[in-house]
Amino acid sequence: MKIEVTKTTNSKLASIDFDNIPLGRTFTDHMFICDYEDGKWQNPRVEPLAMIPTHPAAMALHYGQAIFEGMKSTLSRKREPLLFRPYENAARLNASAERMGMPAFPEDLFVDGLKALVSMEQDWIPPVDGSALYLRPFMYADEPFIGMRAATSYKFIIIGSPAGPFFTKPVKLWAEKHYIRAASGGTGEAKAAGNYAAAIRPTEIAKSKGYDQVLWLDAQEHAYIQEVGTMNIFFKVDGNFITPTLDGSVLHGITRKSVIDVLRHKGYTVTERKISIQEIKEAAAQGTLEEAFGTGTAVGIAHIQEIGWGDDVIPVSTEFPVGKAVNDMLNDIKTGGEDPFNWMAPVL
Ligand SMILES: Cc1ncc(COP(=O)(O)O)c(C=O)c1O
Repeated sequence: MKIEVTKTTNSKLASIDFDNIPLGRTFTDHMFICDYEDGKWQNPRVEPLAMIPTHPAAMALHYGQAIFEGMKSTLSRKREPLLFRPYENAARLNASAERMGMPAFPEDLFVDGLKALVSMEQDWIPPVDGSALYLRPFMYADEPFIGMRAATSYKFIIIGSPAGPFFTKPVKLWAEKHYIRAASGGTGEAKAAGNYAAAIRPTEIAKSKGYDQVLWLDAQEHAYIQEVGTMNIFFKVDGNFITPTLDGSVLHGITRKSVIDVLRHKGYTVTERKISIQEIKEAAAQGTLEEAFGTGTAVGIAHIQEIGWGDDVIPVSTEFPVGKAVNDMLNDIKTGGEDPFNWMAPVL
């Protein structure tokens, strides 16, 4: 499908201080947008970023048919924009769409839309090491209708937001005993807006206790570890890595999938299985819990220092050498270094 392009006559680029970008608040000049009407996606276009007129009865506002993706474009050493595994995000968006009763978006058009937008916005990728253009593809129901059924019209949009170097400090997690993120048969595997809405209050409570993010436990027993607020989780116990199984309640993280490949490439054993929080507490007590880290697009790999669980404080480690080495390898691949897995897609 041909993508129509309308350029802005009023670029904000010159006003951006790349050394001081407020996270998530600065948006590039353009957006990619496509309409779903009469049973098909139509009119894909890149146009100046603008407000979108929304009917007060737009179904996404009432019934929550809204899904999204998160990914980044980085610059190679030759300053060419690259995308990291974009077809993985396209496939995950469609898995989310299916769960939420929304139409699939053509995967080639998803990637072509990203490329069309990033090729126009490449000067927005901050010229500072460790920076990227964060990309947010999303889809929502815009049909004005009061009634419980799948909508018949949707918008698919991609916006971009420059992100400065993300120096992650070690994080402290709060293992949540009361609230849950996802139950078997629910929407945990979908990147659905409602999952995040339900996580906001528990996250505020965790922060008020001095923790950075929630560590979600399973819905039935509150015993098994699922994932972190916006990250999947890995533990190194006695030399080997373990990460919770994708059991239907856990987001299929693209960083998670890539970290498993990098760890195995480096010769480590990685096992996907059920992991109880009690097991992690015991490993810490026995001195076999060597590392823990979270993985996600926004932060890359974040060192987990400590986990609070009721009255227990589970200390993890002050260093995370393997996690850091994996992060370095991923960053090298993303900035045009050797790419043994063939993950990077050039934009131009
Ligand atoms: C709930 C949740 N888990 C895990 C992740 C990590 O996924 P990815 O590595 O694809 O960014 C994210 C971020 O997208 C998330 O929101």
